[in-house]
Amino acid sequence: MAKVTIDGVEIEVPDGTTILNAARSVGGDIVPPAMCYYSKLEGSGGKCRTCLVKVTQGSTNDPRPMPKLVPSCRTNVMDGMVVENTTSPDVLEARKGVVEFLLINHPLDCPICDQAGECDLQNLGYKHGKEATRYEEERRTYEKIDIGDKIKLHMDRCILCYRCTFVGEQLTDERKHGVINRGDHAEISTYIEKNIDNEFSGNMIDVCPVGALTDKTARFGSRVWFTKPMDAHRNCTSCSGKVVLWMKGEEVLRVTGRKDQYGEVDSFICNTCRFDKKDAKEWTIEGPRHINRKSVISANHYEHLKEIKEDIVKYQKQIAEKINKG
Ligand code: SF4
Ligand code: FES
Repeated sequence: MAKVTIDGVEIEVPDGTTILNAARSVGGDIVPPAMCYYSKLEGSGGKCRTCLVKVTQGSTNDPRPMPKLVPSCRTNVMDGMVVENTTSPDVLEARKGVVEFLLINHPLDCPICDQAGECDLQNLGYKHGKEATRYEEERRTYEKIDIGDKIKLHMDRCILCYRCTFVGEQLTDERKHGVINRGDHAEISTYIEKNIDNEFSGNMIDVCPVGALTDKTARFGSRVWFTKPMDAHRNCTSCSGKVVLWMKGEEVLRVTGRKDQYGEVDSFICNTCRFDKKDAKEWTIEGPRHINRKSVISANHYEHLKEIKEDIVKYQKQIAEKINKG
């Protein structure tokens, strides 16, 4: 075991744990944001630099500070390590720079983007971004690509986190796509189209931290904050069958995996559950899903709609009684 102190909080974690996962074991504000790391995808992380932290003491044996900020998703803790995240002005300044870089090419089309309201970059931008861009050059643009008949790729919005390529590599039979070219010419290869044959390819949509990969069966169906996420399950022979139904009235607009407070799915779901089961009768609905993440989808939460309705009925009765009494 190794003892590590993050933002003044001392924790003990198994050797080989990354700083990010050590922070996640405590939770709360000491957890650095992560745009490319995904605990369920092996090899992910180390691409976006949003999780940078400052190591002010390397270990008990070698207390020298690390000379540069380090990516917490790729740096393992050492016994006696001292880490600063939100308590370091250097980290907060660097994070602002990272957000600015991520937004150099990412279009600010949130008003029409399906991911708005549940977008990691949008949340990161609100927390660490500047109010205006200093970028004057033309942004790179791409044609939208159909990845099979169910997934749409908006390469303009891609932040090259590589998560979808790990889905291709680790959840489908064989890897048929990746990132081609380098620098600002880098893009997700259209070979990704071939993965659509696989029953788990739809998980690319769930792991994408921005609106670059969207579900064509649900695109432009509704703003996410107008829908009710409901936990539901069905007997499925391919996956756990445990999903979230995003409903409007009785209509199922979208089916996704169940995500935790870090935006990661609990378990990957199959394409049949995701794309083909849009009738509420095909599901056993468990109840409203609690959204833990700080996001617009957790505001105005409908979880308490039942209590609100009961309160309204109670007040209506009280008003009616007062009127009757004159
Ligand atoms: S399409 Fe989405 S998941 Fe794939 S690399 Fe781009 S941002 Fe990441
Ligand atoms: S989450 Fe660590 S570099 Fe992206």
